[in-house]
Amino acid sequence: MTEAIHETVREHYAQSALEVLERGEAATCCDDACCTDGSVGPELYTALERDELPSAAVMASLGCGNPIAVADLHEGERVLDLGSGGGIDVLLSAKRVGPTGRAIGLDMTDEMLTLARRNAAEAGADNVEFLKGQIEAIPLPAESVDVVISNCVVNLAADKPSVLREIARVLRPGGRIGITDIVAEDHLTPEQRAERGSYVGCIAGALSFSEFEEGLKAVGLTGVSVTPTHPVADGMHSAIIRATKPEGTGAGLPAFAAAELPLSASGCGCGDGCC
Ligand SMILES: C[S@@+](CC[C@H](N)C(=O)[O-])C[C@H]1O[C@@H](n2cnc3c(N)ncnc32)[C@H](O)[C@@H]1O
Repeated sequence: MTEAIHETVREHYAQSALEVLERGEAATCCDDACCTDGSVGPELYTALERDELPSAAVMASLGCGNPIAVADLHEGERVLDLGSGGGIDVLLSAKRVGPTGRAIGLDMTDEMLTLARRNAAEAGADNVEFLKGQIEAIPLPAESVDVVISNCVVNLAADKPSVLREIARVLRPGGRIGITDIVAEDHLTPEQRAERGSYVGCIAGALSFSEFEEGLKAVGLTGVSVTPTHPVADGMHSAIIRATKPEGTGAGLPAFAAAELPLSASGCGCGDGCC
């Protein structure tokens, strides 16, 4: 099932990247209402932030928030962006962390990586890199980043417990997350989430507030908060997710079992063909 979800998501976002790469058009995420009413995309960044970037990086924006506004980045930090798409948050992070820091994007879709690398070259950013891989198995060593950001991608992951475990693994003790994602109110079942929008449109695969919070606590992160910012569908919200890896923790993080999360968080729970 995991590979089928990855393939469906990859095909969908390859098309989004090609809209920008080949046709010079703004990327679209899906036909769901939230993808067309301004809840998703470049309007979530300030005009000043958009002016800092190549236009193709802005046109490729498919996020549901602005993780840079959440993460409070500092000079010299190493930042990892999970599901970096066309690179908008990597390029903004690179400016915040400066020449002594590094911004790393991770994405599984070749076309998105091509677009992101082209945007980085156009921006003249030399403290960035884009890696190919899945956020369920991050190709970086343990305790190698200060901050994990992500913009509207955890909901797309085929194996969410693995993503949360990997976030905790790659963060250094004292490191933090600043994530934006779509989150469901706790009373919505996986079937009700799927009624509100598609999986590739970032709706059907969303975790609930409790599932996100409990999942982050289960991997040993503290100071966890999941705060809604704006509605994207009935009972579904864009949200800011914050948490910290406690100082003095390392390889001895609590073992994470899928069974510790509610069932809907372990699978895609979308009812689409991909499931
Ligand atoms: C909704 S777009 C968001 C892109 C970017 N964060 C932004 O704000 O524009 C989702 C991106 O995540 C990538 N993605 C989805 N699931 C992934 C996974 N399991 N592993 C790695 N990348 C993934 C897709 O290829 C796509 O580029």
